[in-house]
Amino acid sequence: MSRVFSGVQPTGNIHIGNYLGALKQFVELQEEHDCIYCIVDLHSITLPQDPALLRKNILDVAALYLAVGLDPKRSIVFVQSGVPAHAELAWILMCNSYTGELSRMTQFKQKNKGRESAPAGLFTYPVLMAADILLYDTDIVPVGNDQKQHIELTRDIAIRVNNVYGETFVVPDGRFLKTGARIMSLDDPTSKMSKSAENPLSRISLLDGPDIVKKAIMRSTTDSEGSIRYSRTEKPGISNLLTIYSVFSGKSVKALEKQYEGQGYGTLKKDLVEVVWESLAPIQEKYKNIRESEELLHILEEGAERAATIGAATMKRVKDRFGLGLK
Ligand code: TYM
Repeated sequence: MSRVFSGVQPTGNIHIGNYLGALKQFVELQEEHDCIYCIVDLHSITLPQDPALLRKNILDVAALYLAVGLDPKRSIVFVQSGVPAHAELAWILMCNSYTGELSRMTQFKQKNKGRESAPAGLFTYPVLMAADILLYDTDIVPVGNDQKQHIELTRDIAIRVNNVYGETFVVPDGRFLKTGARIMSLDDPTSKMSKSAENPLSRISLLDGPDIVKKAIMRSTTDSEGSIRYSRTEKPGISNLLTIYSVFSGKSVKALEKQYEGQGYGTLKKDLVEVVWESLAPIQEKYKNIRESEELLHILEEGAERAATIGAATMKRVKDRFGLGLK
């Protein structure tokens, strides 16, 4: 069975982009793979966080993991900082990463824009991500398109270490969906939907109520052409709505183009509101039951223990290869 690993930052506002690009894949993969899903709180402190809010957000994401369908009997679900080996391995990998390659990371460049000096953790963020993945001998990493460069770097570091120290790491592959890997912002369909965008109507969060879902979709930016067809370059807004519709409903974009031939944008938007809400309502119902339960904490504690056991075997191998510590 191949090993799957992925993570989500507990930075609030988990949106339908995160769901369609990543979380939905997590659920599908647990049917046939050995899956480990993490709430990456150490990554989130690369930018300042309010401590009380961070604690809340960690449990929010954990509850969402379960609400979208992750089954703790099949998948390991845990919080990153509960397994210290992530940070330990990150240090070892940092000694095998180069400032040149890290400066080329587009996410770093974006987050660093306008700063005179960046937190060192923001710069080395992708190395911690590599540690997350390599710690568990991961074969497959399901993520959205925005993580492609980080997965490439992880592969480069793994291959580099293997070449110098002998077979140490499994070299992982990213898994990106054909449809849904890059959901765009609703108010500006030329930039990706993001947790931190200023306009709350630029995204639909998984916990938004029906009124907000309706408002965000009905007000979404389209174009003045009037025909419903898919073209990312000519019609980014309509193409984004078709993509969201397609992944939520399971209908292909082609089938949707046919279904809406000759119809107006208003009809498409109204139907999309229903399709999205039909998927979000049961997630929110489940979320309410899980979020305040004691069970959630038990699942995370047990998950951390199981993850730590798997990670310890890798750390032993890594330390032996590098000659660290005593035998
Ligand atoms: P994060 O928390 O920003 O996002 C979580 C997941 O959602 C995907 N995603 C999107 N997919 C489609 N359309 C969008 N608009 C969109 N926005 C976000 C992301 O690609 C991601 O899969 N660095 C990671 C977290 C991480 C990680 C890891 C992932 C840390 N360690 C190890 C995989 C393996 C991140 O910031 O994701």
